[in-house]
Amino acid sequence: MRVSVLGMGRMGRALAGRLLDTGHAVTVWNRTAARATPLLHRGASLAPSPADAAAAGDQAVLVSLADEEAVRQTVLGDSGVISSLPDTAVVVDMSTVGPAMSREEEAAIPGGRFLAAPIAGAPAAVESGQAVLIVGGGRSWVDVLEGLFDDLAGGYMYAGEDPGAALILKLLNNYLLMSGIAVLGEVVAAAEGTGLDPSVIHTYLSSSPLVAPALHNRLEDILHGDHEGWFSVTLGEKDVRLAIEVAVGAGIDFAIAESVASRYRAAGEAGLGEKDIAAVVELARHRPH
Ligand SMILES: NC(=O)c1ccc[n+]([C@@H]2O[C@H](COP(=O)([O-])OP(=O)(O)OC[C@H]3O[C@@H](n4cnc5c(N)ncnc54)[C@H](OP(=O)(O)O)[C@@H]3O)[C@@H](O)[C@H]2O)c1
Repeated sequence: MRVSVLGMGRMGRALAGRLLDTGHAVTVWNRTAARATPLLHRGASLAPSPADAAAAGDQAVLVSLADEEAVRQTVLGDSGVISSLPDTAVVVDMSTVGPAMSREEEAAIPGGRFLAAPIAGAPAAVESGQAVLIVGGGRSWVDVLEGLFDDLAGGYMYAGEDPGAALILKLLNNYLLMSGIAVLGEVVAAAEGTGLDPSVIHTYLSSSPLVAPALHNRLEDILHGDHEGWFSVTLGEKDVRLAIEVAVGAGIDFAIAESVASRYRAAGEAGLGEKDIAAVVELARHRPH
């Protein structure tokens, strides 16, 4: 399949790499072109603009961008994806944005040829085909792209005709992750601060059923890592903020989430915005760096 991928951040590069590994013809675009270089060495073509990238993806145009502002400019802007989308192509936005943004994209794209497909999983999981895709939007577009989703992730979870439904699930999923990491960081810092033997802390938390499986791949980093990781504090804070908007919009009292969001916001203000979300532990240790 001829597929374009817009956005060559950590996740976009993993998506493009997986598509190349599974035999697709891939065109990539990134605002900062140099970030696409590793993919060009693996066989991808570089498009000079979002419009050119869209024109090259005659079956699927995948989008993986930081936030709503980036999606608005790149997909809906004057020289964005919608200005030159082939009438055979479906736009698949894999960015984590708010549900309203995804509905706006669906409404703006000719023929409503749009799916939201946020990803639950790290870039490494995408590269190995292990990530979970949560897909929302018209069932007929899902049927067209089923083979692509199989190649990317061995399948998908369908959230329904409303693309926003996929984003609601994704945002709540990430609130679980972000709150879990923040609490684990406090537990580690408190255990260290009271003088417990680091090897005892490690042994206990490594085997505790109270540490969720999805937190284990960050335990070493929280205990003694450099927080280089794969998902930034800035993006984590964005996801909790969007989850709060969704929940509060539904009339839910989301008080704990406010606290979690303020933790990631404070980590960003302390200069940790580009570090992995595991870096929130440094606030609890009182030594931001
Ligand atoms: N990393 C993960 O583990 C993970 C997991 C699941 C979902 N996600 C989601 O996937 C999306 C991408 O995440 P990532 O980790 O790849 O982020 P990232 O490494 O920080 O990359 C962000 C991407 O967005 C682009 N961008 C930012 N602002 C832009 C603008 N105004 N106009 C055009 N492009 C812009 C960046 O371009 P430049 O290179 O030019 O800055 C880059 O391509 C996010 O929505 C994130 O929440 C990430």
